[in-house]
Amino acid sequence: MMKLTKTLLALTLIAVVTGSCKQPKKEPFNLEPVAGDSEPMKFAKKHYRDFCSTCHGFTGEGDGIVGAKLTPRPRSFALTSWQEQTTDERIEKVILEGGAAVGLNPLMAQNNEPRVEEPEVLQALVTIVRAMGR
Ligand code: HEC
Repeated sequence: MMKLTKTLLALTLIAVVTGSCKQPKKEPFNLEPVAGDSEPMKFAKKHYRDFCSTCHGFTGEGDGIVGAKLTPRPRSFALTSWQEQTTDERIEKVILEGGAAVGLNPLMAQNNEPRVEEPEVLQALVTIVRAMGR
């Protein structure tokens, strides 16, 4: 019984410690649909979750399952310095035309999803990338 209690205590401690290390500075942008999201935003969130997140990660830190293995890794959208110096136009161009179009890694592929060409969906993706800034 004593042993079990100790094991449980140890597990709880581990959970608390690892949990607090992962604590972000700010609540991460919620990629799940929420009440009040426009239909294009819901689609953009789904597209980000299904596609963009594989490289850019769910919090935009470039730590997606594929992204973590890339050299160089995709930049972190969380970086204030990057958020401040980039423009919405450039983000849109990269999303539509791919990294090569702006001299970045061509692994950032050009868009292949017809709905991303809809201005509202494209704008929602920019909003998501911007919301990942800290
Ligand atoms: C196959 C991996 C991959 C996928 C999928 C991907 N990206 Fe990227 N992305 C990259 C890489 C690699 C770069 C270039 C490296 C960097 O960020 O400096 C990049 C760069 C970017 C940039 C930075 C452009 C700049 O001006 O610095 C933005 C914004 C971006 N991606 C958004 C997206 C969005 C939104 C999606 C989904 C629609 C997406 N990416 C899908 C790999 C990917």
